[in-house]
Amino acid sequence: MLRTHTCGELRAGQIGQEVTLTGWAQRIRDKGGMVWIDLRDRYGITQLMFEEGSSTPEALETAKKTGREFVLTAAGTVIERVSKNDKLPTGDVEIKVKDLKILNPSEVPPFMIEDETDGGEDLRMKYRYLDLRRNPVRKSLELRHLINRKVREYLDKKDFIEVETPYLIKSTPEGARDFIVPSRMNPGQFYALPQSPQTFKQLLMVSGFDRYYQIVKCFRDEDLRADRQPEFTQIDCEMAFVEQSDILSTFEGLIRFLYKEVKGIELGELPHMTYDEAMKKYGSDKPDIRFGMEFHELTDLAQGKGFGVFDQSELVVGINVPGGSEYTRKQLDALTDFVKKPQIGAKGLVYVRCQADGTFKSSVDKFYSADDLAGWSARFEASPGDLLLILAGETAATRKALNELRLEMGSQLGLRDKEMVAPLWVIDFPLLEWDEESQRYHAMHHPFTSPKPEDMDKLDTAPGEIKASAYDMVINGVEVGGGSIRIHDKNLQSKMFDALGFTREEAQAQFGFLLGAFKYGAPPHGGIAFGFDRLCALFGGQDSIRDFIAFPKNTSGRDVMIDSPSPVADEQMKELQIKLDLRD
Ligand code: AMO
Repeated sequence: MLRTHTCGELRAGQIGQEVTLTGWAQRIRDKGGMVWIDLRDRYGITQLMFEEGSSTPEALETAKKTGREFVLTAAGTVIERVSKNDKLPTGDVEIKVKDLKILNPSEVPPFMIEDETDGGEDLRMKYRYLDLRRNPVRKSLELRHLINRKVREYLDKKDFIEVETPYLIKSTPEGARDFIVPSRMNPGQFYALPQSPQTFKQLLMVSGFDRYYQIVKCFRDEDLRADRQPEFTQIDCEMAFVEQSDILSTFEGLIRFLYKEVKGIELGELPHMTYDEAMKKYGSDKPDIRFGMEFHELTDLAQGKGFGVFDQSELVVGINVPGGSEYTRKQLDALTDFVKKPQIGAKGLVYVRCQADGTFKSSVDKFYSADDLAGWSARFEASPGDLLLILAGETAATRKALNELRLEMGSQLGLRDKEMVAPLWVIDFPLLEWDEESQRYHAMHHPFTSPKPEDMDKLDTAPGEIKASAYDMVINGVEVGGGSIRIHDKNLQSKMFDALGFTREEAQAQFGFLLGAFKYGAPPHGGIAFGFDRLCALFGGQDSIRDFIAFPKNTSGRDVMIDSPSPVADEQMKELQIKLDLRD
């Protein structure tokens, strides 16, 4: 070992000890006869002190020519620090250095490697290996490691075994876009990288593995957002001989264990909310229930009074912003602009101020009497001082827009507290959703999800009304996991492919292996996959998953550090027998 201690471990108890430390020079202060260097490693920072007399002349000279991020080894004595630094765990001591060696010099780094850095996002991504030296980023990865260990601990105890499934698999038309990989030995044919190990974990159930898990990379060629990466990690799980309630309790147990072990938080039982209720009350299948402001429907009360916009709307719905009547005209105009943004898509915003004196002031006073508005206020369970915000239009689009407005109001009022944990299960998802563009049904979760037993017979008559044995776990408005009870009957699976518009031949070509396996004694089974990166970000109190991934992609799906994706040599393309012609 080149060191006796790390830069994070020396305390007053070690005063007088001879030690050798190694690390990177974070800050250098040269006061002529004395030099101080903050030496950093993964574990912390320790101050090195050099002075004539205590340090060898060579050490003092070396200290003076040390630059930021030089790799050093320093040997000396632990002494009590004159001016203590109570922000550092090592702040009571410093090292009176005798010998100093530069193990490797460094060029001046492109940004400050400190908690608060001057480096912009792009620069930090390009030099990710330097960004990873910074405390906050390193801590995020340490948290990820801890959660990973705890997940394994819980699942191991419950008899789950980890099985690796292949990364070179087959492209399927369901779900997001696949990343495809050419095969040199099979010209003109392609593998796909898995969007999830879904079919393989089901095959493992047929094989009798009974309780499987895998912390596994998944690949999806979709548009990126703060909580989406093209390659991300799932905690992927499957169980045989279970019903939905068994899966929910097993994995609610996992989340409870993680919060207790990692954050010291005891979670109670997770509430269940049906998809229909979530959409009606929150306009979202991932409601943030850290705060109220639930939707109140107003269609019956608001129509027939001569206000054309409401009269022509399928749904009139709003939220009550507690204490919001003080919102100024300017603030209300800003909210109107907010809901009219193209990505939110509302045509306008109606407001009612429930004033402190019990009267009402609204943007639709022309059409509605004080009694009408009092009726609305009662429907919204509002009190004097509150503000009603109301949208109208087609049901799904209006709910979606009001969800955005509700979240915005939650943020503006500081109700989306990162310290709070508000988890729930959203259950009873629709099995299928109609896609206008392709004029066919798509599986809302995936084509292997089982209809709820009581809805089985609707597959021929009313497929759009079928509810699935599918569930999502949502925490603070983030979908952290989702899964379902699977179809294990080959005839039902074939029928499902029919409903999804596959011909028998297409179903056979795409999923023949699964239908084949189901002929040989498939047990009832179901499972779930958690978004591991999302879970880590949630535990770390951040919205973006990027810093919980060591080497993430940027928003255009590029790794700007290794500069990928990139063209490949003509020779490689020839070998793969791929002709690249980007002309139409
Ligand atoms: P699903 O597609 O819902 O289910 O994915 C499971 C969880 O993975 C996370 N996730 C993502 N995280 C980061 N970046 C992405 N691009 C991304 N996409 C999804 C989410 C999501 O809840 N095979 C099924 C699971 C099952 O049925 O057992 C599946 O993949 O947190």
